[in-house]
Formats: sequence, structure tokens, C-alpha cells
Amino acid sequence: MHRSIFSVITALLVLMYNTFTGSAQGTIGVNYGKIADNLPPPDKVIALLKSKNIARIRIFEPYPDVLQALPGSGLQVILGSLNSDLPQIGGDPAFAAKWVQTNVFPFASNVPFRCISLGNELIPSELAQTILPAMQGLQRALIAANLSIPVTTTVHQAVLSASYPPSAGTLSPGAANFLVPIAQFLKANNYPLLFNAYTYFPYRDNQKDIRIDYALNNATEVVVRDGNLGYTNLLDASVDAFYYALEKGGVSNLEVIVSETGWPSAGGDAPATINNAQTYNQNMINRMKNNVGTPKSPGKGLETYIFALFDENLKANGTEQHFGLFYPTMEPVYPIQF
Ligand SMILES: *[C@@H]1O[C@H](CO)[C@@H](O)[C@H](O)[C@H]1NC(C)=O
Ligand SMILES: *[C@@H]1O[C@H](CO)[C@@H](O)[C@H](O)[C@H]1NC(C)=O
Ligand SMILES: *[C@@H]1O[C@H](CO)[C@@H](O)[C@H](O)[C@H]1NC(C)=O
Repeated sequence: MHRSIFSVITALLVLMYNTFTGSAQGTIGVNYGKIADNLPPPDKVIALLKSKNIARIRIFEPYPDVLQALPGSGLQVILGSLNSDLPQIGGDPAFAAKWVQTNVFPFASNVPFRCISLGNELIPSELAQTILPAMQGLQRALIAANLSIPVTTTVHQAVLSASYPPSAGTLSPGAANFLVPIAQFLKANNYPLLFNAYTYFPYRDNQKDIRIDYALNNATEVVVRDGNLGYTNLLDASVDAFYYALEKGGVSNLEVIVSETGWPSAGGDAPATINNAQTYNQNMINRMKNNVGTPKSPGKGLETYIFALFDENLKANGTEQHFGLFYPTMEPVYPIQF
């Protein structure tokens, strides 16, 4: 009797704890890109993330120094692979086994891996045909090592040939050839698909037709009506266009993670300002925290990763170098509250 009351109380406390602290941290992460020669060491970076209540990261490849610093940090990790490794991961079981033994197995008991992404923005490209075999090969290698970690891939908005209004969302024929079988595999295994979704680039390229508040997540009213659904922001519209496009490809209710989104704070293009970057990211965080989901998938928290943690000085000159929330000194580019 006492025991069961105790466990009910414990369950309630856990529920309250998750309600008050878990949901905000639960859905938002950052991309820890390292295309720079002036970043702090991983242990300092992890301390920074924890001090800001950032609980999830995505890394683009299995950087040994980052992997070694992660155990015990509690950070959830999306682990990427080098694009150039895909043919061997899919074609050579020994290579896939070694990849797991080097990059995953030694850390897996102390690092919660959210998923492993094979290929970043490879559809369309000449490597697109290597993605599904690589996912299958790595899945076999993970199972052989007794690891239960989802495998997936990361696509960008260029897979869509139409996205306005969201219900018109359609995969381009070139993308559908590769992405539909991949989405079927993910759905069958209950794995998520990663989608990089920026509102900055469409807005930059079409300021005449796209309202700035719609692009910056700070519109206070519905801007785009699509049948029964009303959109206040272009990020929700992009994600829903992707859901609609996958449905037309025959795959419904696949879990989509927004693996990259963000806004540059500098670099030359007029909309790339500190004020706009702060507005975009803070309003996005505030919306995601409330787990409102998208108009097509209401109430379903959308896991979202901001690009990026740091400004990266070895990326292409211009705005590409200025997507960071932090300078390499770890000073914030602008205040942001997770
Ligand atoms: C996987 O788990 C099974 C059952 O728990 C065990 O017998 C086997 O040795 C494990 N294999 C590896 C590679 O750890
Ligand atoms: C949205 O934010 C931008 C940049 O901070 C600002 O210029 C604009 O007035 C804001 N719009 C609304 C509707 O609050
Ligand atoms: C960026 O511009 C600087 C100075 O103009 C140049 O030295 C550097 O090589 C450029 N970097 C890249 C990645 O293009």
C-alpha cells in the first residue's frame, strides 16, 4: 500500500519535472559545426551547452575529440557520417562493422545517440543511390553490436519541386526516386527523417512576396491560409509542405526532425542582421517549447536543431560564416534563452 502510493507520487513528480523542465529542453538542439580553426575544445563547448540548458546536439561527422568528451554529459546526439563513406558503409560489411566499433560502440553505453544520419543533403546528387544501402548496412552492423540506434539521412528543401501553399508540397521526380524508398524503410522501422529547413534563403531571394514577420517567426496573425489551415510562419509551412510531399509519395505520418534551421547575423546580405537572427531563433524556440506542432500536425512537438552553435570562419565567405549563436570566444552573438 505504502509502496504503491509512493510510486504514484514518484510518477507524478517525474511527470511534473518533465512538464516544467523537460519539454523546453526536449525539443530544441543545436548543430555543433566545426568548419573553423578557432573553436574552443569540446569539454569547454559541452560546459557552455549545459550552462545554456541545451540538451541536444547534432554533429556532422564522428569527430573523435567530441565523441571522447561526450560520455556522461547527458547530451543527446545526432551523429553524422562523412558523405564519402557511404559507398563503403553500404557495400562492405567489414567497413560498416569497423565504423560502428570506432565511432559508436565505445560511447554508446554513456552517450544517448538519437540517431545516425548517413549523408547530408545528398538528394539529388550522384551519391543519392548510396544512401539506402548505407542505412541498411549500418543498421545490420548496429544490430550485430547489440545497439538499438535509428539510422536515417538528412535532406534539404531542394527535394521539393513545389511547397506553396503547403498542401501543394511535392517531391521533385529526381528526389522521389530515391527518397520514397528511403522513407518507406524509415517508416517500416519507425525511424525519423531529417529535414534542413531555412526560411532565410527564400526570404532573401524573394523579399517582394514573403513578409519579413512570416519569415522571422514573429507574425501575430495568420499570413497564409491553406484550406482549413492557417500559417503564421514559413518554417511551419515548409515542414508541412514536406509532410504533404511525403504523403503524395505514399508515406504518411513519418516522423520529421528539423535538423537545421537558423538565420545569419552578418555577412553582407541585407536581412542578415543580429536583430533578425535573434528574432528568428528566439521566437522559434518559444514556439517549439510549447509543443504546438505545425498546423497539419498540431500538438506534436517538433524536434528542431538550430544552425549553428558557433560562427565558423572556414566556411564560404559571407553569411555562411555568421549563422552562430556564439562567437568562437563563447561570447553570445545576441542574448538567447533556451
Ligand atoms: C548481444 O547480446 C546477446 C544477448 O544479450 C549476447 O549473447 C551477445 O554476446 C551480445 N553480443 C555482443 C556483440 O555484445
Ligand atoms: C519582427 O521582428 C523584426 C526584427 O526584429 C522587426 O523589424 C519587426 O517589426 C517585427 N515584426 C512584428 C510584427 O513584430
Ligand atoms: C575569404 O576572404 C578572405 C579575404 O578576402 C580570403 O583570404 C579567404 O581565403 C576567403 N575564404 C574563403 C573560404 O573563401
